[in-house]
Amino acid sequence: MAKLTRLDDIVSLCKRRGFIYQSSDIYGGLASCYDYGPLGVELKRNVRNAWWKAVVQMRDDVLGLDCSILMHPMVWKASGHADKFADLVTLCKKCNTRTRVDHLADGEQTGAQEHTEHIDIDIAAGQQHDLSGKKCPACGAVGQFSKPMAFRLMFETQMGANVDDTMTLFLRPETAQGIFVNFRNVLDSARVKVPFGIAQIGKSFRNEVTTKAFIFRTREFEQAELEFFCKPGTDEDWYAHWKQQRFDWYLNLGIRKDNLRFRDHDPDELAHYAKACVDVEYKFPFGSGDWQELEGIANRTDYDLRQHQRGMRTMNDWFEQKGDLSKIALKDEDDNYIKGPLAYFEEQTRDRYVPYVIEPSAGVDRSTLAFLVDAYDEEEVKGEMRNVLRFHPHLAPIKAAVFPLVKKDGLPEIAMNLYNGLKGHFNCFYDEKGAVGRRYRRQDEAGTPFCLTIDGQTKEDNTVTVRDRDSMAQSRIPLDQVKNFLREKLDL
Ligand code: GAP
Repeated sequence: MAKLTRLDDIVSLCKRRGFIYQSSDIYGGLASCYDYGPLGVELKRNVRNAWWKAVVQMRDDVLGLDCSILMHPMVWKASGHADKFADLVTLCKKCNTRTRVDHLADGEQTGAQEHTEHIDIDIAAGQQHDLSGKKCPACGAVGQFSKPMAFRLMFETQMGANVDDTMTLFLRPETAQGIFVNFRNVLDSARVKVPFGIAQIGKSFRNEVTTKAFIFRTREFEQAELEFFCKPGTDEDWYAHWKQQRFDWYLNLGIRKDNLRFRDHDPDELAHYAKACVDVEYKFPFGSGDWQELEGIANRTDYDLRQHQRGMRTMNDWFEQKGDLSKIALKDEDDNYIKGPLAYFEEQTRDRYVPYVIEPSAGVDRSTLAFLVDAYDEEEVKGEMRNVLRFHPHLAPIKAAVFPLVKKDGLPEIAMNLYNGLKGHFNCFYDEKGAVGRRYRRQDEAGTPFCLTIDGQTKEDNTVTVRDRDSMAQSRIPLDQVKNFLREKLDL
């Protein structure tokens, strides 16, 4: 029987086999930053491609976009991030550890409360919280905390070489805003009609107070986000639609149903822009409660487009205040905001409205971790432990490995010929070193669904042994049928 997966086993396999390494490893590592190795980069690309295929390619109502990471600072003023995207933190007076206030457990509880992601904070306002009964997760001291303060989550950087024209920018904390500020561009250039969506995959950055569990919560990460624009009044139906689509996506890629669930946000948990939000949660093998957010699906209403209309009206103040965002107050909309530049005119009904937005927002790294955890298995075979990653074929970094049984008798030449014929169609791997049993085990650990072995019989009847990763069963198929066999089995 498969044993319970521990995160440590996954981390060690990831390093050993070249899925994921600590960033800047040779210098002792950079906390909460990770690099994807030769197998990891393929796995992550396959996760991205699977998302893009389901959300963009297979839909007639979703278009793609790739925005710059650096954007005009007013984007973040209008979106609310400049004033609200912060964590409330406190410092333990005993051990100097900084902790998120919402992650503090009561004195008698063990462990930290790490269920929630971010809750909006008013950065400018003072913060009142009674922490007298709370316990430091690092040293256990109770009630020894400093006054809570807001800690801004956006990274700052400078743009421009000259002192006079240098301006402070933020690295984007979500890809979504790039979509909102391009709504009009896409509408005008792609001639689409509401309802439609714009999708984007890209890096986001957050100076997280609490990073966690390998690639689960890091300071640089990748998001796959869809902003689906719809007519107000139809938003609840689209919310239900995308909720189901996104849940099924994980199941279709092999995540076990027992490990996946929805969790509706409580009203006091909702982000400043959301009317409703549900998380798709995965039962990760770490943390206080196991169940952790994998993806959020939010009804963002018309909040963002209306905010950007207000932002556009406020641009003069931006120049007058020399870009000091803290001195700028967004101008109110006029009563005619439904005729504003980011509003929509529906020709058929002659209705004007600012579209509502349904947003499924997934983490590429976080789903990659979930796929790794869910695929990981250890089993005893003939008295030896075998580690195997039972990836869905679409996600497997290598689709097939080709081996000559021995390094002589012309077998490597036949195997190399087969490999060369396959590699233009599938990501394949050629290996002629060591005992064939060990080569199988190495591919099991990489999650390769099929191994193809050329042996003495190949020279007699032009057949090849196919070994299945999951069942370890072996069968023979004609050499000239291998490509079709893989195509059919891998559903590519
Ligand atoms: N645009 C909405 C938004 O960004 P979010 O819940 O803050 O919502 C969406 O983020 C998803 O992005 C999360 O469900 C998670 O998968 C991923 N994510 C967020 N912060 C992350 C971090 N620090 N490290 C890794 N993934 C993260």
